[in-house]
Amino acid sequence: MMSLSFKNLIFFSLFFLSLLFAGTASVPATIGVTYTPNPHQSPEHVAAVLQSLEVSAVRLLQTNPAVVRAFSYSNISLLLTVPNDLVSAFASNRSAAAVWLYSHVVPFYPRARISTISVGTDIIDTSFDLSDLLPAIRNLHLSLHDLGIRKIAVSTTFSFINIMTTSFPPSAAEFQEPVSQIIIKPLLEFLDETNSSFLINLYPYNVYTVNSEIPVGYALFQEHPFNFRDDFMTGVRYRNLFDMMVDSIIAAMAVGGHENIPVIVTETGWPSSGSSNEADASQLYAELYIKGLIKHLKSGLGTPLRKEGVAETYIYELFDLDEKQENKTERHWGILYQNMTKKYEFEFSASDIQTTGLLC
Ligand SMILES: *[C@@H]1O[C@H](CO)[C@@H](O)[C@H](O)[C@H]1NC(C)=O
Ligand SMILES: *[C@@H]1O[C@H](CO)[C@@H](O)[C@H](O)[C@H]1NC(C)=O
Ligand SMILES: *[C@@H]1O[C@H](CO)[C@@H](O)[C@H](O)[C@H]1NC(C)=O
Ligand SMILES: *[C@@H]1O[C@H](CO)[C@@H](O)[C@H](O)[C@H]1NC(C)=O
Ligand SMILES: *[C@@H]1O[C@H](CO)[C@@H](O)[C@H](O)[C@H]1NC(C)=O
Repeated sequence: MMSLSFKNLIFFSLFFLSLLFAGTASVPATIGVTYTPNPHQSPEHVAAVLQSLEVSAVRLLQTNPAVVRAFSYSNISLLLTVPNDLVSAFASNRSAAAVWLYSHVVPFYPRARISTISVGTDIIDTSFDLSDLLPAIRNLHLSLHDLGIRKIAVSTTFSFINIMTTSFPPSAAEFQEPVSQIIIKPLLEFLDETNSSFLINLYPYNVYTVNSEIPVGYALFQEHPFNFRDDFMTGVRYRNLFDMMVDSIIAAMAVGGHENIPVIVTETGWPSSGSSNEADASQLYAELYIKGLIKHLKSGLGTPLRKEGVAETYIYELFDLDEKQENKTERHWGILYQNMTKKYEFEFSASDIQTTGLLC
């Protein structure tokens, strides 16, 4: 149990440390997409189109060898995912992890620029035995080392709404119990030891739609004098919901002393259509969100608590999923039509933004 004032102290020191390091050169933001293969396009064609759109990273939620092969001829980095139903096997048996690596990684690496492997996605949302997760992650990490591969990071993916207590104010955010003690605490230790990243699906859309007091412009990166929220406990001002959610994660990691672990946003996006009662799922809002996100990430401003910002961000999703794949909702998240044209205007290569330190 942590007293609020101690949490605030941690938060303050984070904030002032981030001020101290303001002005250090920022690395270019890595902005990618989550791509789920479908029967309409070959992965080779998709890889070529993404290369021409200057997409620098792709996350595969369903990792299959043919798709990894397709990207091995591109300069696009890959974040792979091990399906949830293999986690128990990986946990009990290191050779099960090796078998997976032999079919999905070894034939293509390092020509395929695989950067990270997520063991499972949103595993706490399933009926899964949580105690298997960390042993599975460790076994995959050890199998990579057995193969002499030391540059691929291993982690797992969570969803913001499933693990956080609150997104506002960020200084009060903590990881939910019991997941925090059972999984997140030991995971953060592993990530620190192995220089890996915390992977999180983070949707301002979902927080906005259940909080009627949040103005839509605040969720859509619109610059407006009234689009801000102050964290009254600490006096830190937030100008968009995305930063607030990222800093909630960083504040929660700081409670256990892990505030320096890089954060990768494995999914974020805005639906361009939904069912008739979802007025905010619109093409206009989707365009504003994606453009605003890219501009914000490219600005190099980071977040109030993390000067360098998130390490990588993957837009969800490249194409609308088929009805079969996306049964439970009528929302469409794709940024491209199936014929590979853009649903609305955006540029991954947008470089017309000055990257200067905010707090000089
Ligand atoms: C490949 O990508 C890396 C990092 O994103 C970049 O430094 C390099 O110049 C690229 N190479 C080519 C051939 O585009
Ligand atoms: C471990 O996994 C390998 C590869 O999948 C399998 O051949 C072997 O039978 C497994 N061993 C046990 C004890 O489950
Ligand atoms: C983690 O990164 C640091 C700094 O880049 C490096 O010194 C260290 O050897 C790395 N540790 C591992 C386990 O890769
Ligand atoms: C889609 O949902 C409906 C109603 O919930 C269900 O009857 C149907 O089997 C589902 N289809 C698939 C492919 O999951
Ligand atoms: C691509 O598909 C969209 C949606 O079906 C359509 O509106 C657009 O005209 C198509 N573009 C081309 C170049 O075929």
